[in-house]
Amino acid sequence: MLIQIEQIFPSLTWKIRHEVMYPELPFDRVKLADDFEGIHFGLYVDHKLTGVVSLFHDGDVYQFRKLAIQSNQQKSGLGTQLMQYILDFCKIQKATKLWCNARVNAKEFYYKFGFHETEKTFFKDGYDFVVMRKEF
Ligand SMILES: CC(C)(COP(=O)(O)OP(=O)(O)OC[C@H]1O[C@@H](n2cnc3c(N)ncnc32)[C@H](O)[C@@H]1OP(=O)(O)O)[C@@H](O)C(=O)NCCC(=O)NCCS
Repeated sequence: MLIQIEQIFPSLTWKIRHEVMYPELPFDRVKLADDFEGIHFGLYVDHKLTGVVSLFHDGDVYQFRKLAIQSNQQKSGLGTQLMQYILDFCKIQKATKLWCNARVNAKEFYYKFGFHETEKTFFKDGYDFVVMRKEF
C-alpha cells in the first residue's frame, strides 16, 4: 500500500468532505467561504485520494477543518498520518497554536496529538462540537 500526502487544489476536498462528513446535506454546503484562502492536503492510497484536511491561519494561529478519511478506510492509521503531517507543517511555519472545532465523538482521536478541550461547545448541522486546541 503506497501512501502519499501532498498539497491539493481546494475543490478536490469537496467530494470526500461530502461523502464522509455531510452526505445528508446538499453538495454545495461542504464548500467553505474561505476555501480559496486555505491550504489543503490530500492523502493518497495507491494514487487514489482517500483523505483530506484543510488548514487556515490568522498570523501564527492555525485552524484545521474538515479532516476526513474515506469511510471504508477509517481506523487503519490514515487519519493519524494526515494529522501528523499537518502538525509538522505547522511547526515548519512556526505556528504557535493549532485549533479545531472537533466533533465530540472524535475528541479522543485529537487527545492522541496533544489537543485539549476548551470550554467552547456548540451544536451545528446535527452534531455536537467542542473547540480543541494545541500549543506548540
Ligand atoms: C476521525 C477520523 C479523521 C480519524 O481517522 P482514522 O484514519 O479513522 O483514524 P486512525 O486510524 O488514524 O486513528 C484511530 C485512533 O483514534 C481513536 N479514535 C477515537 N475516536 C475516533 C473516531 N471518532 N474515529 C476514528 N478513530 C477514533 C481510535 O480508537 C484509534 O486509536 P488507537 O490508534 O489508539 O487505536 C476518521 O475516522 C473520519 O474521517 N471520521 C469521520 C469524519 C470525522 O468525524 N471527522 C472529524 C471531525 S472533527
